[in-house]
Amino acid sequence: LPQTDFKDKNILITAGPTREWIDPVRYISNPSSGKMGYALAQAAIERGAKVTLVSGPVTIDKPKGLYHFTSVETANEMYETVMTNLSPQDIIIKTAAVSDYRPKDKFENKVKKDKVNTNLELISNPDILYTIGKNKKEHQFVVGFAAETNNIIEEGMKKLIKKQLDLIVVNDIQSDDAGFQSDTNIVTLIDKNKNIREVPKVTKATLSHIILDEIVKIQKG
Ligand code: C5P
Repeated sequence: LPQTDFKDKNILITAGPTREWIDPVRYISNPSSGKMGYALAQAAIERGAKVTLVSGPVTIDKPKGLYHFTSVETANEMYETVMTNLSPQDIIIKTAAVSDYRPKDKFENKVKKDKVNTNLELISNPDILYTIGKNKKEHQFVVGFAAETNNIIEEGMKKLIKKQLDLIVVNDIQSDDAGFQSDTNIVTLIDKNKNIREVPKVTKATLSHIILDEIVKIQKG
């Protein structure tokens, strides 16, 4: 029998990278494929949720049965779209690899090779997840992701507290078969009660259901 434990739940998921334009032909970005966020969206749809997916530029197919889909490019666009769609959401899952910085100004024309001064001034992007955590309503459950190379649990715990999350999924991006672009992942789940659960290598589809199971468990208390 199909699971319907997320029936009528509104879930917002962000996925993929952002692009921060330098000039009309160049941008700052990262190797995020969107696979983790799209797998989560798929799993949540299968379990009956009304899923809003806010996606950076990716090349994978979007899951069928989405309630709402918006594609964005920059962190600022992602911020605006998430905030506009936030209030009805019961669960917010931020898998997107958001660029922390953007060029202060975008050059109107392509920057030429002979340009003498090559310094690029960067300014901070809004931290979307921090804003959500800080303003979250009683009924909202907030999940963050973190990509770490060392002190996985310590770094994860810090972010969980700083961003006032209910659950954080920490990727060990040092291992093969984990993190960006991989079809599998190796993660540690840390919840707001400081329960730590290490999940061995599984596909992102399987991990998505493990994460959803964990949310159900935490919400039951
Ligand atoms: O602080 P760090 O970027 O490592 O935290 C990662 C988490 O924060 C992810 O869930 C990511 O989607 C979110 N994030 C965000 N806005 C940013 C930076 C990160 O929502 N500007």
